[in-house]
This record gives sequence, C-alpha cells and structure tokens, in this order.
Amino acid sequence: MVYTRKNVSTLTEGERRRFVMAMLEVKRRGEYDEFVRTHIDYYVSDGEGRLRTAHMAPSFLPWHRRFLLDLENALRRVDSLVTLPYWDWTKDRTTTSAPWTEDLLGGNGRRSDRQVTTGPFAYATGNWTLREGVTDTEFLTRDLGRSRGPIDLPTRDDLEWAMKDPVYDVSPWNSTSARGFRNRLEGWGSGQGSAAWRNHNRVHRWVGGAMVGGASVNDPVFWLHHAFIDMLWSRWQHRHRDHHYLPAEPPDPGTSQHGRVVARHEKMPPWDVTPDEMQYIGRIYRYA
Ligand code: CU
Ligand code: CU
Repeated sequence: MVYTRKNVSTLTEGERRRFVMAMLEVKRRGEYDEFVRTHIDYYVSDGEGRLRTAHMAPSFLPWHRRFLLDLENALRRVDSLVTLPYWDWTKDRTTTSAPWTEDLLGGNGRRSDRQVTTGPFAYATGNWTLREGVTDTEFLTRDLGRSRGPIDLPTRDDLEWAMKDPVYDVSPWNSTSARGFRNRLEGWGSGQGSAAWRNHNRVHRWVGGAMVGGASVNDPVFWLHHAFIDMLWSRWQHRHRDHHYLPAEPPDPGTSQHGRVVARHEKMPPWDVTPDEMQYIGRIYRYA
C-alpha cells in the first residue's frame, strides 16, 4: 500500500513520538551506524579519480532516494505506521521552529562546544552516542545559522532557480556543472565562501556541526532535509514531464567523466538498482 510522507510541522503528538522512538530503536539495534558508515564511504568528490554516486554527480538524487527508502524500511520494521517526515526549510526557517523542538530533534548546540543538550538525541540521554564519524566526537553537534559567519536558509526564489531548469543535468556531470536541475539543487556554486553554497548544500552548512561533511547522517535532521530534497525532485519530474535522468548513456571512453558517473541504465552502487528504476516512486510513497 502506498504510504504518505508528511511535513514534519504537521505531525501529531503521537506521530512525533513514534518517529522518535523508531529512530532510537534503529540506533539501538546498530543499524543506524551502518547508514552513517555507508554515507561516509560514498562521500567521493570531483577531485578523486573514481566513480561518484552519492554527491557531485547525476545520481545524487536517485542515490539518496534509495538511501532514504532503506532507512525508512528500517524504521517501519520497528513500527509499521512510521514514515519519514520532511522539513520544508523555505517555511520553517527559525532555530526554534519545527523540527528543532523538544519532542522532535531537540534544539541548537550549546555555545561552548556546540553539543546538543536538548531533546531525544542529546548525548546525556545515553541513546545517541556517535560511533561512526570523521572525528572522535561522541556527541551530536549543531550550530544553527552558523554563529561565525551567519548565513540564511535558502529561499523560495533560490529553489525556483533550480526547479525551473528543465534539463536534469549537464556535462561535466559534477560540482562545476553550470546548468541543470541536479547541480542547482545539490548546490555547488561558483564564487567564494557562503555564496558558493546553494539549496541542499546551504542547508547542511546552516545546520552546521555534524551536518557538515561525510558523517552528516549522525544528525537525524539529515533524513528530514533529504526527504524534502526528494520531494522537490518529484515535483520537478511532475513539472517537466518530458525530461528524464541524464546522462542517458555513459560518457565516451577517453573522456574525463568516463567511469566516474552512473548513466540512466547502469547499476548504482552499493545497490543493484539503476537511476531509471529509482525515478518513479508513486507506487511506494507519496508526499502530503
Ligand atoms: Cu549525502
Ligand atoms: Cu545532503
């Protein structure tokens, strides 16, 4: 049966509690840390001469779509009524609005060491010790809004700039692709400092702390952020019906991106699925 992913700000008290409980149980079972590890392992950038699937690549969207489905299935094995909520950061834009509440993800990190000390994912609860990371820090950290060098969340206009581009992605299929929906949404821009972070990337930076870098899955907001990104891809597909995932064919041998990006009908590691198979998910879930 098709299930529904809801806006996190509309969840009832009971839905919030069940979502949090399922997350904590997936963590307790050790499954959560495997997701963190997978994301670290697939954090490959342009500068490396190997296949990129998760980031700086056309398969950024289908890769995360599949990654979210795996976590959502783990949650639903715990509680079959739970679905992943999404965070619409064009509407909930303050450090105290959803999802930063005591009954959801807790609030900002404290000033001294950015440790999150409120809500169900605070270190002191004993339920959310970080075990996989790029640093040794065991507690969740956040720096909402970036205290040093403040930035704002992306706006509706920033998003529209991505949504209106009818072409899915363009050569060279990486962080320098100047056009195309994928990179405009993923958000690798030109320019210096904060001007270079757009849409998806800018939200990671705005949350700060654990959300910056390969171990960003350690902050549960990762899933809410990426569920919204996934919803935006669905909306883009709906709006540009004649446009599909690109590249349709692998880049030619001898060209710089040969063997480094996944074409529409190629397998997308670590799974046995192709981007094409991840394009239409209407039989699995929908967004409300
Ligand atoms: Cu990612
Ligand atoms: Cu991300």
